[in-house]
Amino acid sequence: MARFKTLDDAGDVAGKVALVRVDLNLPMDGGQVTDNTRIRAAEPTIRYLSDKGAKVLLLAHFGRPKGQRSSTQSLSMVLDAVEDVLGKEVMFVPEVAGDVVAQSVGILGNGDVAILENTRFWPGEEANDPDFAKAIAANGDLYVNDAFSAAHRAHASTEGLAHLLPAYAGRAMQAELEALEKALGNPAKPVAAVVGGAKVSSKLDVLTHLVTKVDHLIIGGGMANTFLAARGVDVGKSLCEHDLAQTAENILAEADKAGCTVHLPYDVVVAKEFAANPASLRTCNMHEVAEDEMILDVGPQAVEALADVLKTCRTLVWNGPLGAFETVPFDKATVALAKTAAALSKEGSLVSVAGGGDTVAALNHAGVAQDFTYVSAAGGAFLEWMEGKELPGVVALEA
Ligand code: 3PG
Repeated sequence: MARFKTLDDAGDVAGKVALVRVDLNLPMDGGQVTDNTRIRAAEPTIRYLSDKGAKVLLLAHFGRPKGQRSSTQSLSMVLDAVEDVLGKEVMFVPEVAGDVVAQSVGILGNGDVAILENTRFWPGEEANDPDFAKAIAANGDLYVNDAFSAAHRAHASTEGLAHLLPAYAGRAMQAELEALEKALGNPAKPVAAVVGGAKVSSKLDVLTHLVTKVDHLIIGGGMANTFLAARGVDVGKSLCEHDLAQTAENILAEADKAGCTVHLPYDVVVAKEFAANPASLRTCNMHEVAEDEMILDVGPQAVEALADVLKTCRTLVWNGPLGAFETVPFDKATVALAKTAAALSKEGSLVSVAGGGDTVAALNHAGVAQDFTYVSAAGGAFLEWMEGKELPGVVALEA
């Protein structure tokens, strides 16, 4: 991985204006922030710069307002939540560039923090318009990107600005890039990947990339059914993309060529209806799924075998649940394997990196997120990284 500058390279920032790209695309309900994880992730960077006497201007997007102002997507709505985390007053500036921002900078004291308005209110943001980026840069002395979760977007505030001002990775970005490097960039071998979730079609590129990178690919969730069906297994009325049978075959052939062992469940948990604790619940061999049954989780024997695989591995990257984990008891395989991974990580034999919305929820549900080596709060960016893609926001920092 190319080297990028961090806050330690930024020198004396006292009195300087730091434009800090953070991810404030937060879950909200009735105008209230319901989860402040992303604010807490940015806190060390904001605090560092503020403690060193910089004037900190936070840049972020919220939602997808498509280049227009929208009162329901103003970043003024997250002001209270940011103040709560930082424990101090934060100014809100209803612009991202121009005189209003310049005047606000004049009012701010050293160490003060302000949130600028939603960058996506201006079409120049998503277009990565150089003039728009220049207008933002005009009010800053340095640029810090602490939003890995938005780094797959080549937008003015995630990419363009990095070319206009001295650019640094913030603490969260730095931690994320270091963890990802350990997981797939330059991992200790053997490496295992768990890929779950409903559909093969949404993770085709992930699977294709991983078979060339990992020693063990563990496939779970609905997407395992597509692979089982491609191998001639009758999956009953399970969620299955039958039209992707050939694609699944190709991925299996690629894995074979690359020396990657693909693990599909050989026992499964099935039911006739998808509901909590259904009467028709049973565990069976994958070849015994009845026509009117659907596979909803990986079976206990397969989970035990997968745990044994993890015990032989030094690195694990995890994206997606193994079963329909939000509905009891189809959370069992995900919880059991997550607990094994967490225990191995805790005792130091495994580096475990997990990411993606559902995955974080599943690991929290299993109560083990804190024992993984690193859990990424990024959704789309984490997936693109798992696909082996270069993320524009990261590449720009390395330039
Ligand atoms: C996210 O919430 O995953 C990031 O903030 C990116 O948001 P986007 O998908 O709207 O670009």
